[in-house]
Amino acid sequence: MTDLYAVFGNPIAHSKSPAIHAAFAAASGADLVYEAHLAALDGFPKAIADFIAAGGKGANITVPFKEEAFRLSTRLSERAARAGAVNTLSFAAGEIAGDNTDGAGLVRDITHNLGISLAGKRILLLGAGGAARGVIAPLLGEKPASLRLANRSAEKAQGLADAFADLASVSAGSFDETAEYSFDVVINATSASLAGTSLPLPSGIFAAGSLAYDMMYGKGETPFLELAREQGAALLADGLGMLVEQAAEAFFVWRIVRPDTGPVLASLRAQLGS
Ligand code: ATR
Repeated sequence: MTDLYAVFGNPIAHSKSPAIHAAFAAASGADLVYEAHLAALDGFPKAIADFIAAGGKGANITVPFKEEAFRLSTRLSERAARAGAVNTLSFAAGEIAGDNTDGAGLVRDITHNLGISLAGKRILLLGAGGAARGVIAPLLGEKPASLRLANRSAEKAQGLADAFADLASVSAGSFDETAEYSFDVVINATSASLAGTSLPLPSGIFAAGSLAYDMMYGKGETPFLELAREQGAALLADGLGMLVEQAAEAFFVWRIVRPDTGPVLASLRAQLGS
């Protein structure tokens, strides 16, 4: 029996998920089909219901439906509940189980692929939207020395920090207010790179040997990574590794098999030419 999976989003045509999951399936000998489905902006619940009726076993959810998938889930993993968003659905026994593998993907890319431990590190997370929210608990799980949030709207950053106060003390403020600190790891979770804009980062926030990580990726260096290089970050990484690792974590959620991500990441990197 061939198992059926898909990614749902809008737009979806350029999604790399079908190719990534096909490569995982081929490498692990799994008998599955993984499709890309465009859902209408007002038609996400129906698209999922139709997919379940067609025998779908699981789905990945991308922009702009992650919050809607959260609400549609009849059961949530702890990390999805924390993230307030769902990127992985599993369908079985009449349940819609929601999970979120984005944060685990980010952490795995940094700690495993880049080989940088987050334990004891000073981390700065830029942004206070859905992308930032999804990675806070997994980052805290690595036991950093500190985690600070910086956002264009400082109140939004503070609100997000408060939402995680039961896990750890997370500090927050505007970009300007980060000027008095320096960090070992600076992660961009804003959508500024999408618009091709840079962030108003004060100079001096990159400690010696620091890592700048952009959750976005594209051909060539993102505006954030360009700025980070100019400001002295020692290591630069874009979000392609996170994309592959969140997919691997979803594959594991569905099939209890952890795919080898190295060859898939290398092949995507070659295609991007970066
Ligand atoms: P996502 O789900 O990608 O996180 P979002 O919830 O809309 O999207 O959040 C976008 C984030 O990028 C926010 O932190 C936003 O800052 P504000 O909360 O101040 O709006 C940030 N962002 C977007 N464009 C930006 C820009 N040009 N400069 C600085 N921050 C930007």
